[in-house]
This record gives sequence, structure tokens and C-alpha cells, in this order.
Amino acid sequence: MGRQSVHIETFGCQMNVADTERAATRLRADGFDLSDSADSADVILLNTCSIREKAEQKVFQRVSEIKTERVGRQPLIGVMGCVAQLEGEAIFKTSPSVRLVIGTGATDRVTDLLGRALGGERRVLDISERKASEAYEISRVERHSDHIAFVPIIEGCNKFCTYCIVPFSRGRERSRVASDIIEEVKRLREEGFKEVQLIGQNVNSYRPKVENGLERFEGATPFSKLLRAVASTKIPRVKFTTSFPRDFHADIVKAIDEHENLCNWVHLPVQAGNDRILRAMRRGHKVKDYLGKIASIKSARRRIALTSDIIVGFPGETSAEFEDTLKLIRECQFHGLYIFKYSERRRTPAAKLPDTVSEDEKTFRFLALEDLQMSLQREVFQSYIGEAVEVLVEGYSARSRDDLTGHTTCNKVLNFRADPDLIGRIVKVKVREAKTHSLYGEILGGDCV
Ligand code: 5AD
Ligand code: SF4
Repeated sequence: MGRQSVHIETFGCQMNVADTERAATRLRADGFDLSDSADSADVILLNTCSIREKAEQKVFQRVSEIKTERVGRQPLIGVMGCVAQLEGEAIFKTSPSVRLVIGTGATDRVTDLLGRALGGERRVLDISERKASEAYEISRVERHSDHIAFVPIIEGCNKFCTYCIVPFSRGRERSRVASDIIEEVKRLREEGFKEVQLIGQNVNSYRPKVENGLERFEGATPFSKLLRAVASTKIPRVKFTTSFPRDFHADIVKAIDEHENLCNWVHLPVQAGNDRILRAMRRGHKVKDYLGKIASIKSARRRIALTSDIIVGFPGETSAEFEDTLKLIRECQFHGLYIFKYSERRRTPAAKLPDTVSEDEKTFRFLALEDLQMSLQREVFQSYIGEAVEVLVEGYSARSRDDLTGHTTCNKVLNFRADPDLIGRIVKVKVREAKTHSLYGEILGGDCV
């Protein structure tokens, strides 16, 4: 048997992207080829998301698509990630062509598991936990970008918001030791990466079992110590996502004030603008608390871009309660908003509540909120016109080969015309035009980093 090729498709959040990079690193180190093509690979692994029902359905659609699209020999199909963890054995029944199920804790064991399946074992399943001895390792070639690296700092979630499946699919919170994170960031800097994004379901709940790596750094919480430690590596840009409102300490803003390389963007999901709904969601914050957090963010030295998530149509949400969400959105002036229709997830406490909001009403609320946000966002984006911003040049713009694209420190997409040699550099651009989701600008001489 020659070298087998594996194609991995990733759905969902950055954590899944990081897990794909991790699985690919293992597989290549153990003698597999990684392939970009689903048409010819011997093995196809689907790294799946279960946050909403639609995301989950995609997996099963994709399995049947693969089966019909592939001509000739069928690939070995495996399911990884959140759906694998939650559904386990049941996947073999729903999709009999799946032969391998690898849960979120089993990513590092992918080679052995795949080896068993290729060796003829009919169904291979591992949904047990990650072992502490399994070293976290991602090689440069497997990173999703040559310039930006995702660095997980905490996995799992202990919050148990009543609608959310993540505590079940990703397990309890586990924080990586800070010295390992810092070493990784230093290595990334040496390799030429310009930006790291510290990722986790709730990065600011970061709480490692040991202090290693944080001893020299000030901070009101382990997370704000970590921010200062990572900033001190002198990597040009540090972003972090997602932050949990209840655990958002003002010291995070202080750290951003102190360190230029801590980027001026915070993603702080509020989910709803009504206290009864927030309590039913078990979010641990009230509207007033949230407004207090964003007041501290808005008092920062630099203008910090604030983005958020909203769920519309949570069970029992009345029109008046939804109006409160519209009111909050007007007050917050978010620079970006991800809106989701409530989707019932089996096993979560909210699944026991009668789902009183009809699909049509959810759609109505979704569109009303989107409409409002678009008009507010247009103003926010327009206020950048005339400003000089720093952008990390990531590549050609999706629309035109004449333009380059990248993200600003405040995480906005910015397109501009310039020499492609600048890809991978951080440059200054003057904003000339604002669209609803992106900015257009003009390069200001030379690169900064
Ligand atoms: N239904 C709809 N949206 C959800 N989210 C999480 N669980 C659900 C659900 N059951 C949203 C939240 C979260 C984002 C990642 O997904 O807004 O912040
Ligand atoms: Fe889900 Fe809440 Fe945890 Fe976020 S904090 S992952 S919404 S349970």
C-alpha cells in the first residue's frame, strides 16, 4: 500500500480550524499525504460543528454528496469534531458509509484510529478525553494562514448557558499552561507570523492549574497576566476571542492601553437585551452589567471596536422583550453583530422549554435586527473615513486581482490597491470609503513591520 492521502474539511469555529491543523500535523508526521482535493483523496475527514441544527445537518448532507459525487473508488469517510463527540456511535446508523468517528478529545490519536480503519476494522470510534501527555503541536505548513496563527489557550466551557451545546461537545474548561503558550508565540514570531489570535470559547475565563510563565507579569486575572506575557513576546499583533461578559475584567482594557500590539478589538457576546431572557439563558449578566463592561471598553485610550452575538427567538421571548434587544443594539453601536435564530439543541436545558416563537417570527426578528444593525454599522464604518489605520496584508481581494485585502487592528476588512509584494506585511492605509462590511483605502508609503 503506497502513501494514503487525506483531505480534511472544516466546519464551524476557529477551534475546529485549530483542531484540523493539529490533526493534519499528526497525519503528515506519521506518513500520510494531505490533499486539497475531495475528488481524489483516499480518506475524507469532516471536522464538524453542532452549534445549531443547520450546522449539524451539513455533515450528513456532505456525506451523501461525497458518495454521489465520487466516481470510481469510494473514499474512507470519517467524522471528527463536535458532531462526532455528541452523536458517537449513532453516526454509524445515520450515515452507514461513515467508518470512523473521532471526538473532540481524540484529535491527537487520529493516526492510530485511521490506521485501524484502513487496516480493515469496519467501524472505529474514539470519543474519550484528551490525554494530558499529548503534546500540542502544529507545524507551519498546516496553519490556515502564513501570517496569522490561531493559538488555543482554553478549551471547553463550564458556563452551561441554557441554549448551548458546547459544554457537552467540548467538555469542561481546560487551560493550557502559559509557558507553553508563550513559547509557541515566540516560535511563531521567529517563523515570521505577524499576528496571533488567542482562541477559546471563553478566553477571559483562562485559569491554568499552575502559574508557569505568568510569574513576572502583573494582572488582576490570569487572563490579563497572559495578555501582558504574550504582548511581551513582541509579536506584532495579538487578538483574542471570544470573551465572556461576566468574566470581563477592566484590567483587560488596561493591558490593551499598555501594549500597542494588543489589538483594539473585543468580541463580547451579549445574546439578548432583556434581563428576563438573559436569566432564562443563564448568562450570568444583566443588561446593566453589560453596559458597565462596554463603558470600560469605550474609555480605553485607543478606540476599541466592539462586536457581539445575539440570539433571536429564545423560547418565550415576547415582542416587547425583543424590542429591548433593539434598544440595546442602538445603545451599544457595535462594529459587527452576528445574529442567530434560536435553534433547539437536544440535551440542553432550553430544549425542555416550549419553543413558543414561530419560525416566521424568528425570521421577522432576525431581519429587523439585521436592518437596524446595518444602518448603525454604516455610520460606524463611515466614521473611519480619513483615518490612517494599520492593516496586515493577507492576500488579493476576493473581488479583484488589482486590490489587496487584510484586516485592521480593529478587525475590519480593508481593501486597497498596492504592490502584491506587500502581502505578509503590516502597512498604513488611509480610509477613503466605507461599505457596510468593509473599508476601502489608499496606501500610505512603505510598510511598518
Ligand atoms: N441557537 C442559536 N444560536 C446559538 N448560539 C449558541 N447556541 C445557539 C443555539 N442553540 C450562538 C451564540 C453564540 C454563538 C457562537 O452561537 O450567539 O455566541
Ligand atoms: Fe456556550 Fe455559553 Fe459556553 Fe459560550 S459561554 S460556549 S454560549 S455555554
